[in-house]
Amino acid sequence: MARHLITSAIPYINGIKHLGNLVGSQLPADLYARYLRRRGNEVLFLCATDEHGTPAELAAAKAGKPVADYCAEMHAVQAEIADGFRLSFDHFGRSSSDQNHRLTQHFAARLADADLIREVSETQMYSKADGRFLPDRYIEGTCPNCGFDSARGDQCDNCTKQLDPVDLINPHSTISGSTDLEMRETKHLYLRQSQMKDQLEEWIDTREGWPVLTTSIAKKWLNDGDGLQDRGITRDLDWGIPVKRGESDWPGMEGKVFYVWFDAPIEYIACAQEWVDAGKGADWERWWRTDKGADDVTYTQFMGKDNVPFHTLSFPATILGSGEPWKLVDYIKSFNYLNYDGGQFSTSRGRGVFMDQALEILPADYWRWWLLSHVPETSDSEFTWESFQSGVNKDLADVLGNFVSRVTKFCRSKFGEVVPEGGDLGAPEKALIATLQDRLTAYQSHMDSIEIRKAAVELRAIWVAGNEYLQEAAPWSTFKNDPEAAAAQIRFALNLIPFYAVLSAPFIPDAAARMLVDMKADDCAWPASVEEALTQLKAGHAFTVPEVLFAKITDEQREDWQQRFAGKRN
Ligand code: MF3
Ligand code: ZN
Repeated sequence: MARHLITSAIPYINGIKHLGNLVGSQLPADLYARYLRRRGNEVLFLCATDEHGTPAELAAAKAGKPVADYCAEMHAVQAEIADGFRLSFDHFGRSSSDQNHRLTQHFAARLADADLIREVSETQMYSKADGRFLPDRYIEGTCPNCGFDSARGDQCDNCTKQLDPVDLINPHSTISGSTDLEMRETKHLYLRQSQMKDQLEEWIDTREGWPVLTTSIAKKWLNDGDGLQDRGITRDLDWGIPVKRGESDWPGMEGKVFYVWFDAPIEYIACAQEWVDAGKGADWERWWRTDKGADDVTYTQFMGKDNVPFHTLSFPATILGSGEPWKLVDYIKSFNYLNYDGGQFSTSRGRGVFMDQALEILPADYWRWWLLSHVPETSDSEFTWESFQSGVNKDLADVLGNFVSRVTKFCRSKFGEVVPEGGDLGAPEKALIATLQDRLTAYQSHMDSIEIRKAAVELRAIWVAGNEYLQEAAPWSTFKNDPEAAAAQIRFALNLIPFYAVLSAPFIPDAAARMLVDMKADDCAWPASVEEALTQLKAGHAFTVPEVLFAKITDEQREDWQQRFAGKRN
């Protein structure tokens, strides 16, 4: 049994994610995990919430809650929604866990021992009233470029100019409003990535079959301008993982925490420890330490394109720099962006559909199918309500749902809720078996290489082939002259239902589960041969006609939702 470690980029804690976030990592990762499990692999699928950094502090302040409480609550909310979308994580961890604190401090110590960390003195805005250094986002003032009066220290939201806090006119602290700010000297730790450029480049160059989107971004960062830059890995924040060298204090670093992008990917490893500590698994090292068996593991990461530099360079720098035998990623699957109805999804402006809202209006499968079959794989893609309505109505309701309903209802009316006897398979059935065998091979190969759109096209074609067969065989006409032949056709068509369920389960797990339960075929395995799979339900096998699997989206609903999600979320 092959072993696969799968991680999805861990979503920020500050708020409920929108469908663009979902389709850019968690959902495709889930598809792949479900597929590999069904194919009989041993899978460890991990995700977590990314809980540190200024956005978490700011969101907690806005909610009027202590940041630890805010994170605990939001983690529970995100976990429940993930469940609603049937994201089948083996564990949904937290980057603020004790395990991640220890492991992050451990990595910092190893990197320091390897002389890969240097201390840098810099000047930074200090607020006397707040008694702390202010990160860029905690400083606001007037934009020197456009005059906008609440430009942030790092960027003006009005004219989008990148700023430095010292550029701002009349700067003030967003915590206290105080203008009593001064530049003070402070020390920070830098990871000496520049020292590791050759090692990283060699590693990237020897990765076979990586998507161009992934390697081109990595190469750009390695070779742009002055090449790979050292990177600050500490921040002046209260909330985060305290800067320590292993278990020891780090002189001069009192009151500082690690930068969120330093500790977040380490959570991939810590999450496996959390999984064990939660009693769900027995041995995390077998997944993560190459000296403890992880050599046999294939590790695949899923993420949006903005995350690629951190996963191709920064995190590998942490791992390689530690000098310890940690598992490195084998394949990085990255995605472009999903846009929303002529613009962008926007968390700050509440534009688009958010995960909780999506589940309030329709079941998970409807979203999963549309999102995965339109995943922004080779370019950005766009959610429109028209496209969503047509994907659901045509693919799910007219093709798959209709097939299941026609076959089972016709059988019930003529033979009862039981697979009928009838003669042997004829030429049309054998032709369909041959077609489906080819399509199955293609489907598997797209799923194996995580070409999701191609896989979705193939799956849909597999559903369509069943409909076409039914249309041509027309058992309702056959029945008039030759009930025996009609029974054979229906027996064959009934067998397509569990076959479809198993193949479709990674995309639409709930509908697939219902199909299997109603056909009393839950034990149905991934088909080794189509012919075998399609003769599995024998004459006399009882079943129940399923409830409507997919309801169509009406024009009225579509218009209603289009309006409701156009502007600010309420
Ligand atoms: N929270 C980040 C984002 O949503 C992703 C972090 S991925 C990890 O863009 F590698 F850092 F874990
Ligand atoms: Zn401006």
